[in-house]
Amino acid sequence: MEPTLEAQKSISTDNNAIVVKGLRKSFKKLTVLNGIDFSVKRGTVLALLGPNGAGKTTTIRILSTLLLPDGGQALIHGFDVVREANKVRSLIGLTGQYAALDEYLTGEENLHMIGRLYRLNHQDIKRRTQELLELFDLMEASARTVKTYSGGMRRRLDLAVSLIAAPPIIFLDEPTTGLDPRSRLIMWDIIEQLVTAGTTILLTTQDMDEADRLADKIVVIDGGRIIAEGTADELKQRVGSERLEITIAEASSFETAKRVVYGEGLHLDSKTRTLSLATKGGVHQLKQVLSRLDEAGIGVENVSFHRPTLDDVFLTLTGHTTEQPNIVIEKQEA
Ligand SMILES: Nc1ncnc2c1ncn2[C@@H]1O[C@H](COP(=O)(O)OP(=O)(O)O)[C@@H](O)[C@H]1O
Ligand SMILES: [Mg+2]
Repeated sequence: MEPTLEAQKSISTDNNAIVVKGLRKSFKKLTVLNGIDFSVKRGTVLALLGPNGAGKTTTIRILSTLLLPDGGQALIHGFDVVREANKVRSLIGLTGQYAALDEYLTGEENLHMIGRLYRLNHQDIKRRTQELLELFDLMEASARTVKTYSGGMRRRLDLAVSLIAAPPIIFLDEPTTGLDPRSRLIMWDIIEQLVTAGTTILLTTQDMDEADRLADKIVVIDGGRIIAEGTADELKQRVGSERLEITIAEASSFETAKRVVYGEGLHLDSKTRTLSLATKGGVHQLKQVLSRLDEAGIGVENVSFHRPTLDDVFLTLTGHTTEQPNIVIEKQEA
């Protein structure tokens, strides 16, 4: 017997739910994606990390068939997002950075409406709606119109709506941006439950803690290209085993401090008067740095060691933080 089309596809994509090859997209003269490659194994979470404007939403829109790429290819369970868009749509759930809910319907009605759009049968719609309202902690609010919902409740309902058809692949575009801490934790919990149940998740985020906590693999994009990928631990190892951070006592001596302190992965932040660098030498290196500052007559307010965070990774890779892409971090002079 011939294997079904579906079976053929799953063999050809080698256990990957998502495969992206050489993806390109420009808006007029602005090149947003300049050849992006990555893959996501079934049942895992990939976090697409990058500053504002890096092309995260553009990537998600292409993968969810809402936007055509200019070049390259993207496959969802082996189906091409351009040529087999209908098949792709049946496999995915999408929640946008901006929720697409009907304000004048209740939470429950929104779920029912989307369930009908997906042509689920009445029994399934009722059952899934109850499950999702419970899972998302929205039972009490289920009979209220969405107009009255807080930002966190809207986000949760938005995600619930995208899950009504229990899709095997879910795209989450900045699922916790702007959420209060409690809603953020609930959202993380839900994402973990979905993955445990076998769902594949591609999420975008600017939040390092989120990527650290949820992602099996992280892909960092900046300037239209992938600048790093790996597990959170692998990326942290690139920054050095530990970082040494020194706060200079007087703002007026910061300029001089910049001249006397040097080392691998040096970052300077004149606003907080801190210098930080990757250190493998530990106490020895600390002594060196302190004596250089001392010789230059520069007072030190605080010294600390810390293990690298994903923030450090991002800073090292891009020269700016994710939250504040426009703040210029002074780079070490060559
Ligand atoms: N439809 C569009 N037309 C023109 N420019 C766009 C359009 N969509 C996105 N852009 C631009 O493409 C860049 C990447 O946007 P986006 O993918 O939304 O980034 P991110 O989600 O990483 O913040 C931005 O500079 C944005 O202004
Ligand atoms: Mg975006």
